[in-house]
Amino acid sequence: MLTWDDFNSEEKQKTVSPPVTKHEVKPEVRTNQVEEKNTAPSTNFISDVSQALDNLDIDAGMKDLEGAAGRVDVDQKQMINCRADVNQLVPFKYDWAWQKYLDGSANHWMPQEINMTADVALWKDPNGLTEDERRIVMRNLGFFSTADSLVANNIVLSIYRHITNPECRQYLLRQALEEAIHTHAYQYVIESLGMDEGEIFNMYKEVPSVARKAAWALPFTQFLSDQNFKTGTIEDDKTLLRNLIAFYCVLEGIFFYCGFTQILSMGNRNKMTGTAEQFQYILRDESMHVNFGIDMINQIKLENPQLWDEEMQTEAKNMILQGTQLEIEYAEDTMPSGILGMNAESMADYLKFIANRRLTQIGLEEEFPNATNPFPWMSEIMDLRKEKNFFETRVIEYQTGGALSWD
Ligand SMILES: [Fe+2]
Ligand SMILES: [Fe+2]
Repeated sequence: MLTWDDFNSEEKQKTVSPPVTKHEVKPEVRTNQVEEKNTAPSTNFISDVSQALDNLDIDAGMKDLEGAAGRVDVDQKQMINCRADVNQLVPFKYDWAWQKYLDGSANHWMPQEINMTADVALWKDPNGLTEDERRIVMRNLGFFSTADSLVANNIVLSIYRHITNPECRQYLLRQALEEAIHTHAYQYVIESLGMDEGEIFNMYKEVPSVARKAAWALPFTQFLSDQNFKTGTIEDDKTLLRNLIAFYCVLEGIFFYCGFTQILSMGNRNKMTGTAEQFQYILRDESMHVNFGIDMINQIKLENPQLWDEEMQTEAKNMILQGTQLEIEYAEDTMPSGILGMNAESMADYLKFIANRRLTQIGLEEEFPNATNPFPWMSEIMDLRKEKNFFETRVIEYQTGGALSWD
């Protein structure tokens, strides 16, 4: 590893001077000449700077913004294809987006605040966990460690450019930070437990049940991250809508739920409690991401009813059902036998229950009318404001602008 000592010794080697001969100019004379030249005032430079500032045109750059000559009117604001100034946060039109930004900020947390000592001891104890339990921890870290980066990249490189109001952009920036914190949390767990990082971070390419979920989501972001892609036609607006459904309803809205339930169930049984607590905080953020995404989808539908035709509705339903099927396959792969009070069948029931919710949240009919929730405790964990005991550590206060406090 490169250290500052190496750096200094390298620098010293580079600056060793050859022996001075009687024909050479003395070094100190040359140094003084250079300094004089650099510090001498440049009249031309200062006058160029002044001239550039004198010519500064405040209208340049505003030409593409409709209504930029006046103040932004709330009626000009739109979810997509809006030409009003996106640099003016107020007047608010989308209060729900601003409120979620405030709620997300009040729930700020960092992975290092969670004590991982018990997890390290349990993970390193050869008899601490069964093989089935180890598989669940490894697979989920493998999936989530890259999935959150996928979501973050989709926000920053794809949807942020096409969502054209500052309230939603404000929340998207908050969400992007939270996704970075989630990736940090997974990395923190992987490092704390001394896992093989190469194996975990490559599972989304190498383990079929993980890879199939990532492969399903990737094409939806590839269109939008193309720098030449623009919304503005029905077909292109539908491409954006498809991306939002893929990422909010399926990736964050379904693909996260088998893994969250497994790890949180482990924590409920006093195993891997630090890891489970990281996941609890992540789930709390994720449930807000999903709600925000669904609000965005419904608002875009409301403002652009032509996009939500029969073809699009069928497509959205198929996407949610495909995602449900992939997550059921993931449950079967990660739980070849019953474990932690659950099995692949009860997880399939839960995923169908979740799929029904995603369908109805965007205005479609339920597909599995008899599905029930076998894990009602999951809803309690998602409750954002309730102060309660959780696993071994106790959260004194969930809602805080700064650090969480523990005892
Ligand atoms: Fe996340
Ligand atoms: Fe998320």
